[in-house]
Amino acid sequence: MNTSVFEHYESEVRSYCRHFPTVFTKAKGANFFDEDGRKYIDFFCGAGAVNYGHNNPVIKKKLIEYLESDGVMHALDMYTVPKREFIETFEEKILKPRGLNYKIQFPGPTGTNANEAALKLARKVKKRRNVFALMGAFHGMTLGSMALTTDKASRRGAGVDLNNVTFIPAPYMFPELDTVAYMQRLLTDDHSGIEKPAALFIETIQAEGGIRVFDADWLRAVRKFCDDNDILLVVDDVQVGCCRSGTFFSFERAGIQPDIVTMSKSIGGYGLPLAITLIKPELDVWSPGEHNGTFRGNQLAFVAAKGGLEYMLENKVEEQVVRKGEIIRTYIEKEILPLDSRLELRGLGMIWGIEFENIPVKGLADKVIEKCFEYGLIIEGAGRKNSVVKLMPPLVIDEAELLEGLAIIKKSVEDNLAAL
Ligand SMILES: Cc1ncc(COP(=O)(O)O)c(C=O)c1O
Repeated sequence: MNTSVFEHYESEVRSYCRHFPTVFTKAKGANFFDEDGRKYIDFFCGAGAVNYGHNNPVIKKKLIEYLESDGVMHALDMYTVPKREFIETFEEKILKPRGLNYKIQFPGPTGTNANEAALKLARKVKKRRNVFALMGAFHGMTLGSMALTTDKASRRGAGVDLNNVTFIPAPYMFPELDTVAYMQRLLTDDHSGIEKPAALFIETIQAEGGIRVFDADWLRAVRKFCDDNDILLVVDDVQVGCCRSGTFFSFERAGIQPDIVTMSKSIGGYGLPLAITLIKPELDVWSPGEHNGTFRGNQLAFVAAKGGLEYMLENKVEEQVVRKGEIIRTYIEKEILPLDSRLELRGLGMIWGIEFENIPVKGLADKVIEKCFEYGLIIEGAGRKNSVVKLMPPLVIDEAELLEGLAIIKKSVEDNLAAL
């Protein structure tokens, strides 16, 4: 496999390719193929960007039709038919049936762009600079979002102070600590040293943080805390939105309505770049062009995004996730956890993590990931010290292939445990 051009000319910053050292040519459904014609099962799913499968044929058809019609490809944020149709579909098929009322902002196309917009807007609305975020959070790699992101390796790259954020222990860190009461105390104690925040940013499931699912009661308590204290609740649904958790928005299971929601990754339907920042209408205090950018609303991504939403509804993807999530949980509980009593499982819907931290062998999860690749499975790590093997298959993967991928993880864990 010739990878020398990348090694010679591509920046050292490249990362995922180091875990999967081959050259890919094609992808279809839940599979990748490389230059040697080798097939891989994909449990990484573009970090959640291709929930509806690689080259989904239904969405592809719409893209080809749009390309062949010489539809507008670039229009800054001008009005276009694909944008209108995406907004109409999102409004009618996603927001209204859930009783949600948001205006849609199109920031730049990545998750971090959506969070930067949310951060700026929250500070502008509340005229406060501080923001609360949780330890274990990942919100992106540009300076504002990175200030909300906790892992050392990411923060190290900033080169400047990352400030105006107060980190709150995540509820799983100190089970005996009532984190909501703790936040309240920070506000009421005139010796806390903490400024009142404009917003609290959360992921309802910390994904990069190691698949940490926050329970519905905690999410409701956090909503109430924000209401009681005039603080905006921002839910970052970049990774666990678009049905990943079993409902389109990950916060639906708690029955809460965030003030701002950020989405990217699979909102682009086909792995195309798109992000949205959903804003309660009364918070939409932007002046025209106050948050600007050349690539705000990729037209092909709008076509794919609308196609993705329609596909998701027609194929009842939310139900598929609940059913296949059970298959994953049952398989791991029966086949993988018994391999070593120190293994743990966490997850919801179709995002799951096998935790290796209690087995004191450095880099064990990484070794399992490496073995999986050897056996033809693409899967990534997450969490503190990358101690979690993170399962995130396309939501539309067929059940036989899902079981095949799970069997590869089992074999890779067995091989590694045998070598201890
Ligand atoms: C929860 C969450 N927020 C934000 C981001 C950043 O998204 P992007 O990499 O598209 O900037 C990610 C990326 O993994 C994420 O998981």
